Amino acid sequence: MSNVRPSNMQRITTLELANAFIEEQVALIREQVKSDKVLLALSGGVDSSVVAALLIKAIGKQLVCVHVNHGLMRKGESEAVIDLFQGQLDANLIYVDATDRFLSKLENVSDPETKRKIIGGEFVRVFEEESNKLTGTYYLGQGTIYPDIIESDGVKAHHNVGGLPEDIRFVGLVEPIKLLYKDEVRVVGRALGLPSSMVDRQPFPGPGLGVRCTGAITRDRLQALRESDAILREEFDKAGLTSKIWQFFTVVPDFRSTGVINGKRVFDWPVIIRAVNTVDAMSATVPEIDWAILKKITNRILSEVKGVCRVLYDLSPKAPATIEWE
Ligand code: XMP
Repeated sequence: MSNVRPSNMQRITTLELANAFIEEQVALIREQVKSDKVLLALSGGVDSSVVAALLIKAIGKQLVCVHVNHGLMRKGESEAVIDLFQGQLDANLIYVDATDRFLSKLENVSDPETKRKIIGGEFVRVFEEESNKLTGTYYLGQGTIYPDIIESDGVKAHHNVGGLPEDIRFVGLVEPIKLLYKDEVRVVGRALGLPSSMVDRQPFPGPGLGVRCTGAITRDRLQALRESDAILREEFDKAGLTSKIWQFFTVVPDFRSTGVINGKRVFDWPVIIRAVNTVDAMSATVPEIDWAILKKITNRILSEVKGVCRVLYDLSPKAPATIEWE
């Protein structure tokens, strides 16, 4: 399959069109892979999940998925991947809990780009190690989508963790959604029966919570980040905001502030709530969230999350602020 989307290729906007695409890709995958196998890094993001579901439909157990938990996933995220793909779709799934390994490599590292490089590099090594344990002829499955191809054409460095080295011994690539735009990938995911929690998921950076626990990552702040993020998601869900806001999350910076809890002076972390709306992530605006919702989230974070004494709402648009804090 060429890397150029034909100008007459119809945009996949309906389930009928998605089903036709799925049928065509299933046949192409079977023809390409024959009796060999495909190895796929499954992060649980929209793209890799849709590719996994397509490959399961096409070749079942000839697909081997590897889910690497780098310890920087959101609360419940790895569990959701295992539950869906292993539990419900009966996929071959290797789960690697590499939390300790990633966190020890990241210890005392505060520069954001160095953190990204360490997380990306370590991800490749873990994946490589898992692939070296396998015997047989393997293709490499990838959730490349059309914007990745356009962007890697020199305009913007693609900074996904999924960038795997070419020297691992694979007989070829299987990239069934590489000519699709994101909205089309979501329609295909829906047609494949994937749940909305996966198909309509907001973007989550490859380095995960690593860029939201600013500076040198520590386990206590990571824990505060994971818990506060889960509260934010739960409350936005209850308030019907999940589908209305493009991306939202919490940040735990590496500075403390003074507080008073049960009459005692504390010096604890702040939690910053970040919510943005955007079309293409190049610029972004901050939505006006109902004061009552923000107050409820604040109260829950302050009473339920250990080591936090202050909650802030980030009002800064992009530009000048980026969406992520690092
Ligand atoms: P910024 O912070 O640059 O983010 O305004 C724009 C969008 O990109 C996501 N982002 C990343 N995604 N790896 C990723 O896969 C990264 O290193 C990374 N950094 C930022 C960010 O979440 C937002 O959606």
